[in-house]
Amino acid sequence: MFRRAYYWLPPTGRRWVRRLVFLPFDLWHLATGRPQYHGIDLPLRGEVFTGGGDFLENGLIHKKLFIQLGGLLPEHDVLDIGSGLGRMAIPLTDYLLPSSQFRGFDIVPHAVKQCQDRISRVCPNFQFSHVPLRNDLYTDGGENAALFSFPYGDAQFDFALATSVFTHIGPDVVIRYLQESRRVIRKGGSAYFTFFILDEDSAANQRRDFSFKHPRHGAFYMDADVDGANVAYPWQWLQAQANDAGWSEINWHKGNWSDRPGETVDYQDILILS
Ligand SMILES: C[S@@+](CC[C@H](N)C(=O)[O-])C[C@H]1O[C@@H](n2cnc3c(N)ncnc32)[C@H](O)[C@@H]1O
Repeated sequence: MFRRAYYWLPPTGRRWVRRLVFLPFDLWHLATGRPQYHGIDLPLRGEVFTGGGDFLENGLIHKKLFIQLGGLLPEHDVLDIGSGLGRMAIPLTDYLLPSSQFRGFDIVPHAVKQCQDRISRVCPNFQFSHVPLRNDLYTDGGENAALFSFPYGDAQFDFALATSVFTHIGPDVVIRYLQESRRVIRKGGSAYFTFFILDEDSAANQRRDFSFKHPRHGAFYMDADVDGANVAYPWQWLQAQANDAGWSEINWHKGNWSDRPGETVDYQDILILS
């Protein structure tokens, strides 16, 4: 009910609701000293539009998994697709060497500006770009992401990451981003992408308040009207698209977003492509 009302608001409306709800908490933080990570200011709670839970803790969990599951090394050049407010970038500032290049892009201009002001100012090897693309959850307009070419050269990175981004884009954009990420990754490199993946177990064990009941264009959406809200993909479809894009090895680490039986790693499913 609350989720539907929230999705119903335009992106700017949602931004203001968040700021108002967390205002007392944020004023208290401003008065007592803004939280930082190694000299980088963290966003206030009312500014965070990129997911629930603790901003820093979440980034630190993924940092560990980038290294353990994805084989991320300190000397790697890294691409962050849909970099948001730098939740993944910030914890990597004390892991990647100053000689390694970190690039992020996102469709929300104020998020990119915050990353530039807070992260690039302290770590100039971390750079962020705005790309004006359309997503009905995050932007009021823009160009078609299914036709977008990442603004980087071929084989420019060792590691690509996208956390909680493929969970907000439609099938045509997923296909394009799998192809584009493959293009910009060097031979021997890898990608760490999170998804909601449907197989027999996850589909049968969806939670009442977190389920994908609306099939559209081969994907399964959480909201009847808002495509960008949350979207899940069938495993076989995803596997075929990743292979077609040139990713030869695909490892699926299952998430606990559904009540599926067996071992799980994090909340969303994680795919390691190489
Ligand atoms: C849930 S947030 C996650 C942000 C960040 N990856 C993180 O984990 O904190 C989803 C992000 O995807 C971005 N996004 C949505 N559609 C996109 C697209 N087509 N290309 C790049 N970024 C996109 C949004 O602007 C938003 O910042």
